[in-house]
Amino acid sequence: MKSLTNKVVALTGASSGIGRALALQLAERGCQLALADVNAEGLKETAASLPASTRVTTHIVDVSNKDQVYQWAEDVVNAHGGVDVIINNAGVASQGLIEDLNYDDFNWVFDIVFYGVLYGTKAFLPYLRQRPEGHIVNISSVNGFFPFPSNGPYNCAKHAVKALNQTLIQELRGSNIHITSVHPGGIKTNIVRNSRVVQPLDPKLSKEQAAARFDKIAGTTAEKAASIIIGGIQKNKQRLLVGKDAYVLDILTRTFPQGFSNLVGRVMLRG
Ligand SMILES: NC(=O)c1ccc[n+]([C@@H]2O[C@H](COP(=O)([O-])OP(=O)(O)OC[C@H]3O[C@@H](n4cnc5c(N)ncnc54)[C@H](O)[C@@H]3O)[C@@H](O)[C@H]2O)c1
Repeated sequence: MKSLTNKVVALTGASSGIGRALALQLAERGCQLALADVNAEGLKETAASLPASTRVTTHIVDVSNKDQVYQWAEDVVNAHGGVDVIINNAGVASQGLIEDLNYDDFNWVFDIVFYGVLYGTKAFLPYLRQRPEGHIVNISSVNGFFPFPSNGPYNCAKHAVKALNQTLIQELRGSNIHITSVHPGGIKTNIVRNSRVVQPLDPKLSKEQAAARFDKIAGTTAEKAASIIIGGIQKNKQRLLVGKDAYVLDILTRTFPQGFSNLVGRVMLRG
């Protein structure tokens, strides 16, 4: 999709981080926006930060609730007259070893990170079919190809998002719809602050200290991530790595599939 001007973009997780940065940059490119999130306050702030000329609607949607996602898709089309791009960006993470996590912890991540993306994809697909060109952007992660210890549910859900994307790319080949599978490395956002900590990786650190440490390690800003994602949409990229660390992880994972994983596991879980 070379030009985004006047395109209608539906975006989840628009209250914070990558979603908020995407909203602002898409608005600057002349898109109409349908922004969704569970955080009403954050959503209002994002909408208020957009250029005054932006045609924007905001929707309180819990992406893990199938009915709410389908209702949102219908509302977007009623309000904007159609939709060209869906960006399934909302996500959450947890910390804890699989042995210690209960099924509720697992389902919480899976319902938002995987089913939220699946619902968003299927709810919007019929409407994207009606446009000359449609685009589905599903945010996976480097965890979608490299499983970090203590991130079990997130690793599994992001691998599932990658598999969904790869399946869609094959099944929609030759149609009017493009898919972009996005795999960011560490991006400075609220993802760690908003995570469910069942068991901290480093028990000496409070959640806020762990989030501050993540902010230091994460090499890419949300603004940079958003501009790379928008570039990926415009180039119809099927697989998009975001950040230098994502490229390094990609190479090391391909070259030493188990050896690199063992090394990271030993370092992260030492003691
Ligand atoms: N930050 C990173 O390092 C990183 C790396 C790889 C992938 N990602 C992915 O990028 C995406 C955006 O995350 P972020 O880093 O901007 O984090 P963030 O916590 O700053 O933003 C996530 C947004 O999702 C919203 N959200 C959470 N649960 C929701 C639900 N049930 N329904 C609707 N909205 C919900 C939150 O309110 C928030 O606005 C996520 O899918 C995340 O997994 C992030």
